[in-house]
Amino acid sequence: MKALILSGGRGTRLRPLTYTTAKQLLPVANKPILFFVIDQVVEAGIEDIGIIICPETGESVKAAVGDGSRWGVKITYILQDKPAGLAHAVRTARDFLGDERFVMFLGDNLIQGGVTGLVEEFKKNGGEATILLKEVPDPRQFGVAVLDEENRVVRLIEKPKEPPSNLALVGVYLFSGCIHEAISRINPSWRGELEITDAIQELLNMGARVDARILEGWWLDTGKKDDILEANRVVLDEFASRRIEGEVCPESQVNGRAEVAKSARVIRSIIRGPVVIGEGVTIEDCFIGPFTAIGDRSELRNVTIEHSVVLEDCRLYDVGRIEDSLIGRNVKVSRANDGRQALRLFLGDDSQLAV
Ligand code: G1P
Repeated sequence: MKALILSGGRGTRLRPLTYTTAKQLLPVANKPILFFVIDQVVEAGIEDIGIIICPETGESVKAAVGDGSRWGVKITYILQDKPAGLAHAVRTARDFLGDERFVMFLGDNLIQGGVTGLVEEFKKNGGEATILLKEVPDPRQFGVAVLDEENRVVRLIEKPKEPPSNLALVGVYLFSGCIHEAISRINPSWRGELEITDAIQELLNMGARVDARILEGWWLDTGKKDDILEANRVVLDEFASRRIEGEVCPESQVNGRAEVAKSARVIRSIIRGPVVIGEGVTIEDCFIGPFTAIGDRSELRNVTIEHSVVLEDCRLYDVGRIEDSLIGRNVKVSRANDGRQALRLFLGDDSQLAV
């Protein structure tokens, strides 16, 4: 079996960070979301992985992921020239996929427990597709499925105004080669995209068997700032361990599940896990509260921060308390000591600041 991971798209809801990076490369617990997806695909025993990239961010994805040797797998990059939908991405990957069965995984989705069970079952069960569903409070922003009494899929609809069920389509799909025929029969939706949801509905119309599995664990779809913070919280909560490789001075306290990477320094500070502190980070006179990730080489002095994600090479000096924040690379935030009660700002397009 092959895997197709989607890592294109403009990530407009995560601007300005997505002006310089792909949304799938934003880190949670200091690791790009896309790497969690690749880990799960590799864990399921798949060694031939195609990654869909787009012209805007494709080079950054290639640079971060490389040729797959980090995972011991083969990675093929497939350029989708425009964001024309998930089914369009599958069509673009037609040569790579051939007629084989494959798992498609959206590179900005994280699910608890991985895909090993799903992949094993799909290899054996003979159906044309398996979709993964999750009960959600507001399904209107997702694809939605209707099942019969035996949990077979009877109908699918993309982003319905009046959802016929509360079962949303999670961004993990298993297909046989029949999906290509279904895609060739569909037309673009109202949003101008070739929807994978419509293609699966077409499979049903063709009389194919489409199975559904309900995900009991967590599912995170990381399209917006608060989704990244939530993903960071959930991933730290589940995976953070206590590992202190950096230098912690005797006047500091590191409590609970905190990772302090090598060459990081913690000086006169309190760290309360779950927290990850990257390599080469300096933390001085700070309180680092739960659910915080600090990227490599950042420097924090005299700051209280919690429930936040700070990327690499930031400087945060004397700025009081920071919560619920997502801070991009190489950002500098400091207090002006000139006695004037004014904010002095130098913010990129689409920045958001709450004071
Ligand atoms: C896509 C699919 C949708 C699915 C969602 C999961 O939505 O079209 O059916 O529920 O991914 O993340 P999009 O991200 O294109 O809005």
